[in-house]
This record gives sequence, structure tokens and C-alpha cells, in this order.
Amino acid sequence: MSIISKDIQKAVHLLINEELVAIPTETVYGLAGNIFSEKAIKSIFSTKKRPFFNPLIVHIPSIDSLENIVTHIPEKAKLLAAAFWPGSLTLVLKKSDKIPDLITAGKDTVAVRIPNHPVTLALLKQLPFPLAAPSANPFGSISPTKPTHVEGYFKNKIQMVLDGGSCANGIESTIIGFEDGAPIIYRLGALPLEDIEAVVGKVAIKNKKEENPDAPGMLARHYAPKTSTFLVANVFSEVKKHSGKKIGVLVFKSSLHDKNITEIILSKEGSMQEAASKLYAAMHALDHKNLDVIIAEKFPAFGLGNSINDRLQRATFK
Ligand code: TXA
Ligand code: MG
Repeated sequence: MSIISKDIQKAVHLLINEELVAIPTETVYGLAGNIFSEKAIKSIFSTKKRPFFNPLIVHIPSIDSLENIVTHIPEKAKLLAAAFWPGSLTLVLKKSDKIPDLITAGKDTVAVRIPNHPVTLALLKQLPFPLAAPSANPFGSISPTKPTHVEGYFKNKIQMVLDGGSCANGIESTIIGFEDGAPIIYRLGALPLEDIEAVVGKVAIKNKKEENPDAPGMLARHYAPKTSTFLVANVFSEVKKHSGKKIGVLVFKSSLHDKNITEIILSKEGSMQEAASKLYAAMHALDHKNLDVIIAEKFPAFGLGNSINDRLQRATFK
């Protein structure tokens, strides 16, 4: 029997009983549990096989919930929250004593966001506690953007995937921390840098683990298909290097017109928003086709293109 269900009341019941439920958000599906339940939080880490040093994002229904979670909100954090919440922005702020150390991996900051998905907002409003939710995939593998992706990963491990359809944005939230009140991007994501800078001015980026040991989740290899994957500017010439193999290609907008290869075009119209929303589903699909190699095309380096390239780079890192 499928564990995918639209029953919000069932999700409420399971979460109150310290069980996990996979929840839809506008970015990716999350594996959610009560932030105050040690049992639920430990179960998130063990289900994902995630190391305990990698902290979790806390999901809240409205900005009023923030005062119980953090002790201080820098002015620019207030501006960003007002501009983009609910939405694909995670803020890393000084944590209150109420937040268990297990959530933050012992750090004195906590990552928090209001997701922009009607089903999960309705769920959060009915719960007396916020939800910790990392992406609902085993540690290091491709994030899920459809209920069936989560079911494929965890059908024997969790009781329910709350069905909210396909994720509209399709890549994880943009994470921003603060140093001396100045915003710093810890993870590029679904909210483009340009949109953020329009609100708070120039923002520094520490998107790599070497640059920022404070963002422990930023592993060089992540979001990775099992099939050997390459990221290149010129897909056509890379394809030639692999002749004789079973090849899959992931291109932005233009077809290679080659019947011998499996091709996914992310957006025929050339929309980066559409491409981002389809990126992980395409990676899931190609990874299940028993190919010898996947060749992905680099995106233009602006807007969401930078976030997509970041994920593709981590997917191809050897
Ligand atoms: O879009 C998203 O953000 C999704 C949905 C479900 O909300 N969640 C998500 O969670 O991507 P996860 O666990 O896959 O990634 C969370 C990232 C990790 O890289 C983690 O290291 C970072 O957030 N993080 C969490 N708390 C942090 C903190 N206090 N300081 C710095 N980075 C933190
Ligand atoms: Mg993740």
C-alpha cells in the first residue's frame, strides 16, 4: 500500500505521536519531526543516515513563532523576512535556549524558515510545535521534488508522505547567516542572489565548505546520482568522447537531435525557473535508466543559473 496521502489530520496525529512525516514545500520535500521530541529528531538523522554534525532547518507557520526560537534578529534579517517569507529563504540566527542542541549540532545559531506551500502551512498551523525538516533523501543523494521520490527512498522506513504535488521551485532554499549584522550567503538556492541584493545591498557568498566551516552541510559531493555524471559547457563535444556508451544528457533548452542518446530538456522556453523546478526529477529519471554516463550542460551564470550550477557541480564532484 502506498504511503502517499493528502490527509493532513493523519499527518498531525503522527507528528504529535513523535513519528516522522515527509512534507511538501515549494523547494523540495522535507523529512519532518517535532523539534522538541528527541525520539523524532534522532529518527530523522538515522532514517537519512545523516551525520549528527549537520544541523537541521526549523520550519514555522508565521513570523510570530520566531520570538520563541531566536534571541536576536539583525535589521537586515527583518528586511529579508518581510520581503521573502513565506518563501525559499532560510535565515541562520542566534538560537534561544528552548532549541535543543540536537537540532543545531551544538551551534549557538539556528536555521529557520516559513515554507511557502499551502498544505504544509495548514499543517504547521495545526501543530503546537515547529517542524525540523531536512530534505527527504538519504544523506548525499538527490533531493525529492515529488511524493514518489520520497516513497522510493523511504517506503519501509516512514509511515506517510503528505502529498502536496510537485515542488514549484525544485531546489533547496537559499541560506543566509549574519556576521556583525551583515548578511552572508551560506548556500545558493531557490531565491536568486539578485533578488536578495535588491533588498539588502551587496551580499558576500561563502557557499563552499572551505570558505565557511560554519555551514557543515556544504559538502563538495552532494545531490548526486549513482550514475557517473559530468558537467560541461559544451555537451556535444563531451558526448563524442563517450561514443559507444549508453549516454544520457541533461540540457537547458536546445536539443542535440541525436536518437542514440537519452535526452531531457529542462525548459524549451529557456526559463531558468522552469529548469530549476524540473532539475531533480530529471536527475532521478536519468539515474533510473541504467545509463553508463550522464552529461549535464552548464547554465548561464546569473540568477537561478548560479544555484543550478552549484547543485550540478556537487552532483558531479568525484
Ligand atoms: O529548502 C530547504 O531548505 C529544504 C526544505 C525541506 O525546507 N531543507 C533542506 O534541509 O534543504 P537540509 O537539511 O537538506 O539542508 C539544511 C542545510 C544544511 O546544509 C545545514 O548544514 C544548514 O542548512 N544549516 C542548518 N543549520 C545551520 C546553522 N545553524 N548554521 C549554518 N548552516 C546550517
Ligand atoms: Mg539536503
